[in-house]
Amino acid sequence: MEKIQIENKDVLSFVSQADIDALEGAAKDGLKKLIDGTGAGNDFLGWVKLPAETTPALLDDICATAAHLRNECDAIVCIGIGGSYLGAKAVIEALGNAIGKNNGPEILFAGQNIGEDYLYDLQQYLAGKRFGIIVISKSGTTTEPAIAFRLLKAQLEEKVGRVAAGKLIVAINAANRGALRSLANTERLKTYVIEDNVGGRFSVLTPVGLLPIAVAGYDIKALIKGAQDMQAATLDGSDTTALKYAMTRNALYRDGKKIEILVNYNPKLHFFGEWWKQLYGESEGKDDKGIFPAAVDNSTDLHSMGQWIQEGERSIFETVISVSRQAHEVRIPSDPDNLDGLNYLAGKRVDEVNKMAELGTRIAHVDGGVPNMRIILPALQEEFLGQLIYFFEAACGISGYILDVNPFNQPGVEAYKRNMFALLEKPGYEEATKAIKARL
Ligand code: PA5
Repeated sequence: MEKIQIENKDVLSFVSQADIDALEGAAKDGLKKLIDGTGAGNDFLGWVKLPAETTPALLDDICATAAHLRNECDAIVCIGIGGSYLGAKAVIEALGNAIGKNNGPEILFAGQNIGEDYLYDLQQYLAGKRFGIIVISKSGTTTEPAIAFRLLKAQLEEKVGRVAAGKLIVAINAANRGALRSLANTERLKTYVIEDNVGGRFSVLTPVGLLPIAVAGYDIKALIKGAQDMQAATLDGSDTTALKYAMTRNALYRDGKKIEILVNYNPKLHFFGEWWKQLYGESEGKDDKGIFPAAVDNSTDLHSMGQWIQEGERSIFETVISVSRQAHEVRIPSDPDNLDGLNYLAGKRVDEVNKMAELGTRIAHVDGGVPNMRIILPALQEEFLGQLIYFFEAACGISGYILDVNPFNQPGVEAYKRNMFALLEKPGYEEATKAIKARL
């Protein structure tokens, strides 16, 4: 079976193999805590065995719902934010057509911001279209998706009537709590459950990610198969990719490399970087600790961030997602006049040039003081993306335990919400409203 791999030889002029190996005990202990449920945040470990526990019946049910929505709709709006949005967006973009339309309904997103013009433009765009809604909120109370859902549900009901609209809306949320669950029950919407023990940023392999990905036309069974393979090999110790990544990045962090840049050389992976940033940022950034996760899309960003990465403060390291095979072949044509001087590339594949940009950049960055790790992904296909997702999740849990934080909570996310609710004079926030207004 072909699998993702990790290569860390280009960090060894910055930290020694002994520095990395010194973390092996802590890493293996972290993995054991994930398996045994004996570490901090152990009430949020549902994701650890989730791929193997995903039943064919659930996958069939999701595929049937997806088929119904694909049949009835020209566009599907996925409403959600953070972990209720980024995973699906990342996989759909990685597998999709970079320029044109995919086969099936257009997948749009809302509720991931509070942009008034964004929502206005979206409503205008949907006006002439047959559309449906997948609304995703584990808590069922998050403000951003709640506003988008209220607006779009009203628009859909006005367009097709309340009963018909109810058949075009799917709600995904926790089983027994939150306003969204009550609404879904009252209006008899089709629903899926996010289990309480799976945190938002670890939920892409639940219906949260699987339904939008299936509606977009991709093979969720292959995605889960990839994750199952990686789960089995990670948990039985036969695949040490996650351990190695967690150990290496922590060794670099202890050596003063406080920022990790996830780098891709394939524009379809832009949102994978966004998903990874949330996974690692929310899991590790607490207790005054944590590697700051950043991401760039190369070679595009070599012409913007490249200068900083090459010569700025030496507090960074890079992890490159290197995709071995492209799905399609494009060769650079020969030109008899050669006015642009490009004939030395004639006949070469564009990917060959991209790979040399990647290699040349790696050598330049290592020479310039930037340690470099590579995650080698055979291709942008469902099975490998499933492996990659599980690998990053497992490594994140292990890495958080090495760092000695609870990787599964996010108390800091509440601070802005408290202030926003106080400023908006939400019922129940009267004292906070007075206090915050006194500060203005
Ligand atoms: O990882 C998390 O827990 C968060 O990013 C949540 O996914 C995000 O805040 C959305 O929450 P909810 O699904 O409850 O609306």
